[in-house]
Amino acid sequence: MIIKPRGTSDILPKDTPVWQKTEKTAREVAELYGCGEIRFPTFEATELFARGVGDTTDVVQKEMYTFEDKDGRSMTLRPEGTACVVRSVIENGLAGEAMPLKLYYFTSCFRYEKPAAGRYREFYQFGTEQFGADTPAADASVISMADTLIKRLGIKNVTLRMNSIGCRSCRPAYREALVAYFTDKKDQLCDTCRERLKTNPMRILDCKSPVCQAVAADAPKVTDYLCENCRTHNDTLLSLLSKMGIEYTPDPGIVRGLDYYTKTVFEFTAPIGLDPKTGEEKYLTICAGGRYDGLVEEIGGPKLPGIGFAAGMDRLIAAMKHSSQDVPTQPAPQIYIAPLGEAASTEAQKIVYDLRMSGIRAESDVVGRSLKSQMKYADKIGAAYTVIIGDNEIGTGRAILKNMKTSEQTEIEIGSIALILSKEGL
Ligand code: HAM
Repeated sequence: MIIKPRGTSDILPKDTPVWQKTEKTAREVAELYGCGEIRFPTFEATELFARGVGDTTDVVQKEMYTFEDKDGRSMTLRPEGTACVVRSVIENGLAGEAMPLKLYYFTSCFRYEKPAAGRYREFYQFGTEQFGADTPAADASVISMADTLIKRLGIKNVTLRMNSIGCRSCRPAYREALVAYFTDKKDQLCDTCRERLKTNPMRILDCKSPVCQAVAADAPKVTDYLCENCRTHNDTLLSLLSKMGIEYTPDPGIVRGLDYYTKTVFEFTAPIGLDPKTGEEKYLTICAGGRYDGLVEEIGGPKLPGIGFAAGMDRLIAAMKHSSQDVPTQPAPQIYIAPLGEAASTEAQKIVYDLRMSGIRAESDVVGRSLKSQMKYADKIGAAYTVIIGDNEIGTGRAILKNMKTSEQTEIEIGSIALILSKEGL
């Protein structure tokens, strides 16, 4: 048997209704916040991520699905959406449109990570990227968009963690402090982090190795090195969030795993289920993002500030289910037309086609079942009504409509089924 690759999932019809509901809510929220949808390719030139996400990040160094195409060009399955959106904005000249430019997307992402509950190699994101505004108000608007989505989905026990990781002016001093701190403890770091000490010491702070994490726990905090501009930006943003009634926890430990961030970074965490071993709630980041004022230029575009977030759809859904939201199911057929005999079989196909054209969820037999097993099947698929059609019914144009819940039977005109069911409001 051929099985799916590790860390990927099949989303089956019993599960797709909750995905559709989540996507619908996310789309509504995006529209509430004035965003237009953007779609982009599944793979891009590898250089886009090396330059955009940063070639010293775990994502680029360890997790990308990279391949050579038949022309010998290095391509990569997108590990995230931000760099793709920025590339598209530059390539399509959207930077010349009225600002702020507000975009949203649904995308699958690919990262070669160790699969675990809520951590996959192919996963789905809903995200927004917004350009052309570098004010704390723009940050507050993006963060409130994530907050609105999470609240509309009914996810409980959510924490928003806020931090600022500074800009080009405050980074050099912070970098120096990190180098001084980690140089002393160099021997305890993993090979990659020893290299990062020379190239990008901030990346050591989000290394997944537990040993590096333990060493990083007491590292200097970026918030102690912010320049005046970054500090004021952060203070204004936090007071705006308070004013809006959005609760947050300042957390100087949040540095994010992607290189493009400047100033504001944030993460929303929530319980996504119970740990099967300990029985305790397992908390994960369901949505995260931040400001990236240098990224558009880095990828070859004009000077254009940006900010956005991405929410892991898989995690949002797990968190919703854990918050015991009603999980939607596929809508059942409104009617099952059971034909008896060959002439009726043909007639039934025409009737269900007409019903479907008038917006009624109708089913009939395409398997060649006996009447008895058709009725069993109609019950199994949850059809609200059934009608049996034989030669007699075809002749008179009238038939018996049976309510499957109450067993109530009514004689009706076959031609008026659509009208009757629409009135039922099923
Ligand atoms: P990220 O933190 O790498 O940021 O991913 C965003 C969200 O995607 C995470 O908070 C999580 O919910 C979900 N996620 C990440 N990795 C996995 C995985 N392996 N399995 C399941 N879910 C996962 C970004 O991707 C940035 N592009 C976000 C952003 C947009 N920043 C600014 N704009």
